[in-house]
Amino acid sequence: MIERIFPASPALSGGALDAELLREASAVPSGRSRVSFNFVASVDGAATVEGRSGKLGNPDDQHLFQLMRRTADVILVGAQTVRTEGYGGELLSAEARQWRLGHGLPERPPLAVVSGSLNLDPALEVFTNAPVRPLVVTLASAPADRREALGRMADVVLAGERTLDVGTLVAELGRRGLHRIHSEGGPTLLGTFHAAGQVDELSVTVSPLLVGGLAKRIADVLPGTPAVSPQGLELAHILKSGSMLFLRYLRPLN
Ligand SMILES: NC(=O)c1ccc[n+]([C@@H]2O[C@H](COP(=O)([O-])OP(=O)(O)OC[C@H]3O[C@@H](n4cnc5c(N)ncnc54)[C@H](OP(=O)(O)O)[C@@H]3O)[C@@H](O)[C@H]2O)c1
Repeated sequence: MIERIFPASPALSGGALDAELLREASAVPSGRSRVSFNFVASVDGAATVEGRSGKLGNPDDQHLFQLMRRTADVILVGAQTVRTEGYGGELLSAEARQWRLGHGLPERPPLAVVSGSLNLDPALEVFTNAPVRPLVVTLASAPADRREALGRMADVVLAGERTLDVGTLVAELGRRGLHRIHSEGGPTLLGTFHAAGQVDELSVTVSPLLVGGLAKRIADVLPGTPAVSPQGLELAHILKSGSMLFLRYLRPLN
């Protein structure tokens, strides 16, 4: 059972907690873009075990992961997360899709994949088995033949010439009415948004594991990216189930 331990009052768990989380996530001013990220990491900060995130999670983490998708206008992921984790098919349960329809949202949010190189096979399930046409966000410098091939499977959005322009990305999604941008990573995408000062919300599941080794952290950068200043965050909630913690941080209002 997932329970909220901060704020401690009113006590919330189970279905009442889910309803409160959905209410909070829906309370985004309309017409203004908002970027949220969701990650799972071990206690020592590893974002992967054996190269993937699956072994860090559990069914409660999956439950919250799914809940966060529910209110999104678009789900944003980096290309390496698609290549490693495999995305495709339905992203939301039938219940979640029903909830969206009941709350005036399209049945499904599209998936938007960020790739500078467009090294993405159009035969990937994420394209061939997409219930709603996906987007691919790329650079003007990406090879024209790959752009053309992927353009048959997805809407190709340009956001920058040789480096990703996060402001253009957010504005282009906003122009399509996609204001609630929810990202499931990976680390390079989070690092890119952090460098651009465009992380409004960060949810992190702390998985009760000590992983060690050389696993990535949840934020990374592409080679050659200049150093950025740390960004202060404000704690919005702490949820707990067993030894797993779920932390939600927000960008401070000023
Ligand atoms: N723990 C978690 O919650 C979590 C969540 C997600 C992923 N992961 C793990 O993270 C690992 C992948 O890490 P990652 O950092 O490589 O993933 P990523 O951020 O999903 O993907 C990186 C790729 O996205 C594109 N990209 C991202 N930022 C870009 C930029 N500024 N400019 C141009 N292209 C950009 C590039 O694609 P191209 O190479 O196509 O140009 C880049 O190689 C996997 O092992 C995955 O399992 C963990």
